[in-house]
Amino acid sequence: MLLRHDESRLRATAIDPAFRRDVLNGLTARPRSIPARWFYDREGSELFEAITALPEYYVTRTERALLESAVGEVAALVGPGRAIVEFGSGSSAKTTILLAATRPAAYVPIDISRDFLLESAAKLGEKFAGLPIYPVDRDFTEALRLPEALDGAPRLGFFPGSTIGNFLVPDAVDLLRGMATVLGDDSMLLIGLDRIKDTSVLLPAYDDAAGVTAAFNLNLLHRVNRELGGVIPVEAFRHRVRWNDAEARIEMHLEAIRDVQFEVEGRPFALCAGETIHTENSIKYGPRDASVLLRAGGWTPIANWSDALEHFSLILARKSA
Ligand code: AVI
Repeated sequence: MLLRHDESRLRATAIDPAFRRDVLNGLTARPRSIPARWFYDREGSELFEAITALPEYYVTRTERALLESAVGEVAALVGPGRAIVEFGSGSSAKTTILLAATRPAAYVPIDISRDFLLESAAKLGEKFAGLPIYPVDRDFTEALRLPEALDGAPRLGFFPGSTIGNFLVPDAVDLLRGMATVLGDDSMLLIGLDRIKDTSVLLPAYDDAAGVTAAFNLNLLHRVNRELGGVIPVEAFRHRVRWNDAEARIEMHLEAIRDVQFEVEGRPFALCAGETIHTENSIKYGPRDASVLLRAGGWTPIANWSDALEHFSLILARKSA
């Protein structure tokens, strides 16, 4: 027993080699960048949940309202008996709407944040007694195998929240193609995409008055300190947001407020005041862009819904032949 306990503790504190590689390479590269996927440790996942409730962050409430109004039509189009596979399920907050309306055969939440995944799956299990739930604690961008128990049931992929926007277009296409492969023949995909809109709406959504998004961004530096033994003076950085019109994306950066030097794993790094570490892209898609993206990714859109302000799109697609 002691051995097992020690092993699990070791595993919990072991350095993730991919995180180490991405941080050291990203701080060495020019421009400096750390991939956004590393935001989501326990603290980051909780901060993201807090972001979704912010008045400025229209994304979550708009998508939820859209899903509530469209779910009857979605259910009619997908039919009962599908296994719903959610990519990056987090708190599975919107999933209840879909599960309640579609009478699925099973639910497979996939998320890299294991504790969060298991807690959310347990809560859903209480709500939907009798629904088989198979949590998969993996990075959904990796090649995955779905639980064998699903064999036979056609799949409905669920990828809400405009998470696709956090991937550069070639990576987004690869990801969509990977989903088509994992989900298999006769599968469908319900995906949420954030739309291009006025910067008076976009910028505050990523730079809220309460500073929650700033804390989310800065948590990445705290995570480097916690997990890689870094000594980054986090107070020497500030959260920066810009709209890159040519690329149709919101960018988040961490900007050095002053000249700053620090070490991570014994390697020295230095930034001059004003230099930044690029931490996130959030690409926004017009309706035609979204359709082109999905087709490039191996999916044929069959229905789409948008809110009255056209802030967000929900698209149902079928795997292309
Ligand atoms: C998870 N993802 C879709 C969010 C977004 O809007 O790009 C992440 C986020 N970053 C800052 N606020 C929210």
